[in-house]
Amino acid sequence: SVTRFYDFQVNYQQVTRLCNTKSLVSVNGQFPGPTIFAQEGDQLVIKVTNNVKSNVTIHWHGVRQVLTCWSDGPAYITQCPIQTGQSFFYKFTVAGHRGTLFWHAHITWLRATLYGAIVIKPPTKVPYPFQMPSDEHTILLGEWWNGDVEEIEAAALQTGGIPTISNAFTINGQPGPFYNCSAADAYKLNVVQGRTYLLRVVNAALNQDLLFGIARHTLTVIAADAEYTKPLKVSTLVVAPGQTVDVLLTADQAVGNYYMAAIPFVSAPAPFVNTPTTAILQYDGAASTNATPIFPILPANNDTSYGEGFYQSLRSLNSQTYPSDVPQTIDRNLLFTTGFNLKACPSGQTCQGPGGLRLASSINNVSFAFPAISILQAYYYNISGVFTTDFPDNPPTPFDYTGTMPSNPQPESGTKVNVIEYGSNVQLVLQDTSILTLDSHPIHLHGYSFYVVGQGVGNFNPASDESTFNLVDPPLRNTVAFPRAGWVAIRWKADNPGVWFMHCHLESHTSWGMEMAFLVKNGVGRSQTLPPPPYGFPKC
Ligand code: C2O
Ligand code: CU
Repeated sequence: SVTRFYDFQVNYQQVTRLCNTKSLVSVNGQFPGPTIFAQEGDQLVIKVTNNVKSNVTIHWHGVRQVLTCWSDGPAYITQCPIQTGQSFFYKFTVAGHRGTLFWHAHITWLRATLYGAIVIKPPTKVPYPFQMPSDEHTILLGEWWNGDVEEIEAAALQTGGIPTISNAFTINGQPGPFYNCSAADAYKLNVVQGRTYLLRVVNAALNQDLLFGIARHTLTVIAADAEYTKPLKVSTLVVAPGQTVDVLLTADQAVGNYYMAAIPFVSAPAPFVNTPTTAILQYDGAASTNATPIFPILPANNDTSYGEGFYQSLRSLNSQTYPSDVPQTIDRNLLFTTGFNLKACPSGQTCQGPGGLRLASSINNVSFAFPAISILQAYYYNISGVFTTDFPDNPPTPFDYTGTMPSNPQPESGTKVNVIEYGSNVQLVLQDTSILTLDSHPIHLHGYSFYVVGQGVGNFNPASDESTFNLVDPPLRNTVAFPRAGWVAIRWKADNPGVWFMHCHLESHTSWGMEMAFLVKNGVGRSQTLPPPPYGFPKC
C-alpha cells in the first residue's frame, strides 16, 4: 500500500446547463469533481483549500475511517467547517472496501455541485472476483438547479415549505437530450462489440432515488456500496442517494446507439422532475449522427415492488476469500422511527407548510438541531452544553406506525447522541411512520458498513419478523432505503470509536432534522482509542 496525495482547491466555476449559466462551487474547476483512485489499504491525504465565501467540509462517503473520525467530514458533527482562505488535510486509509464510493461536501446543500467518485481497486496482483473488464467508467447521477442551492435551502427553512425542486437530473454532470439546450453535451460512452465493461454507478443526487437502465442491455451487479455481491442480473438498477452499484455491461447487442437513462423513483406523492436524464452508449462503428438511440424499458416510477425486489435480491458474496461476518447475537437492540413533522411558525411570520406551520422531520420524534461547535470536539475536550446523551433507543410513544397519524405531529428538538459501548453488536430497526405522510428514506450511517438483515412492509413485529432475517449472506451497505410504509433491520459491530452521524440522504429531509449521531466509546488500548485531532484541525 502507498500514500496518495490529492490537492482539492474549492473554487467558483461558471457552468452552463439548460441555457442557464451560474457560478457554482466545485473542486479544481471540474464539475463533477475529480475522481480519487486508490487500492485497498492505501492511505489518502487530501488537502482541501476553501477559496469560496461559504464554509466547506468534505465527507468521504462510505469510508469507514477506522480511528480517523476527525477526517470524516460532516460539519458540526466531527469538525468545524474549513473557513474561507483556510486548508485542512484529510488523512485516512481505505481498508476493507472493494468497489466504488464517492466524496461530497457535507454542509448545507453544497454537495449538489461538490462531489466526485472514489474508485477503490484490489491490491496489486489480487484479481477481481468476476470477469476482468476491458475498461471501467464512472457514472455519476446528479441533480441540477438553475438557482443557487444554498439560497434554495435557506429559503425553504425560512418559509417552512417544500424547497424548490431541481431543474434536471444529470449523468456525469449532463442532463442529456430530453432537456432544453442539452443534446450536444450529453455524456457518451464508447464501447466495442463483444467486450465487457465495469460501470461504477453513484447516486449523488440530492433528493431523489433513481432507476437506471441501458436499452437492451442486461446489467450484472457485482458490488454495492464498495462491497462485493453475488452476481445479480437485472434490467434496471435502483439507486438511492448515497448508494453506489458496480455493474458489468457486455456490449452484446447489434452495433448501434443506445440510451442509458435515469428516472426518479418515487414512492411518495411529492413534486418531482419527470424528464429522464440520458447519456449515449455508442458502439464502435455505429452511425454517430441522426440515428435516434433506442430508449430503455424502465419500471414505472411508482413500482415499489420492483424496488423492494431489487434490494431483497442483493446478497453479499460470502466466499472463502470474502466471507460475511454478520453479528449472530446482539448487545444493543434499537428501534428508530423516521417521520415528517410540523413545527410552530415563528410569531409574526407566515409559514408555507400545511396549516401555516413549518415542515420538519425527526428520528424517534427528535428533530436534530446542529450545534455551534462539532460534537466530536465537544466530546473530546469535555465541553459541556453542546449535546446531550439521551437519544432514545425506542420511539417515545409507540403507535400504529403505518396506520393513523398520532394526535401530535410536533417533534422535540435537540442535539442528542445515542451512546454505544465499544465492540457492541448493534441491531437497529428503522421504521417508517405515517406522521404527515409515509415515505422511503435512504438512511446513511457514517463510520461503518452494516448488514441489511431484513425488511418488510407494515409495522415491525419482532415475534414474527426476526425469524425471517438473513444472517448468512445479507448485503453489506452504508445506505439503506427502506420500503415506504415498512421497516428495515440492520446489524453492525460498533468497533470504531468516535461520533458517527446517521441521517436520511435526501438532503431536504436532513435540512428538516431527520438525523442523529452515535457516540461510540473507546475500548481498551491504543487500537481501540480515538487518537487526538490532527494538526491544524479547523476551529469554529
Ligand atoms: Cu453522504 Cu453524511 O453523507
Ligand atoms: Cu428521508
